Amino acid sequence: MATNTTLDRSKLAHDPGEAGGLSGKPLLDLADETLQYLVTASRRDVILIGVGGIFTGDDLYRKIALGAHLCQLYTGFVYRGPAAAGQILREFLARLDREGIRSLVELRGTATEA
Ligand SMILES: Cc1cc2nc3c(=O)[nH]c(=O)nc-3n(C[C@H](O)[C@H](O)[C@H](O)COP(=O)(O)O)c2cc1C
Repeated sequence: MATNTTLDRSKLAHDPGEAGGLSGKPLLDLADETLQYLVTASRRDVILIGVGGIFTGDDLYRKIALGAHLCQLYTGFVYRGPAAAGQILREFLARLDREGIRSLVELRGTATEA
């Protein structure tokens, strides 16, 4: 699994001053930067699970385009409810369709290739 929660509060519009790890949208860019680093630093046979701030099909698309093999969400599931996984997958498939991408292999790594 690429990342967990963060103690960085710099992306919060308002910091309520609570202790503990931060998850969800404020984590998205940091998680994606870390995933991108891990993709470039790991051997090609290492399976990377992209996690952090996935709420939509576009967020999922970005993680796979960066090089994730699998993805996980927690906070997005809390906010969007039990149907979240199915909805996000439908959004993701609709985007693949729009862009004419036929497989995950075709998408994976397109955001990190030179
Ligand atoms: C309430 C809560 C409990 C969590 N418990 C664990 C845990 O026990 N072990 C773990 O590795 N990660 C734990 N996480 C981290 C999540 O698995 C995930 O890496 C992180 O929340 C970022 O993903 P998200 O933005 O989709 O929530 C927890 C996150 C939350 C919000």
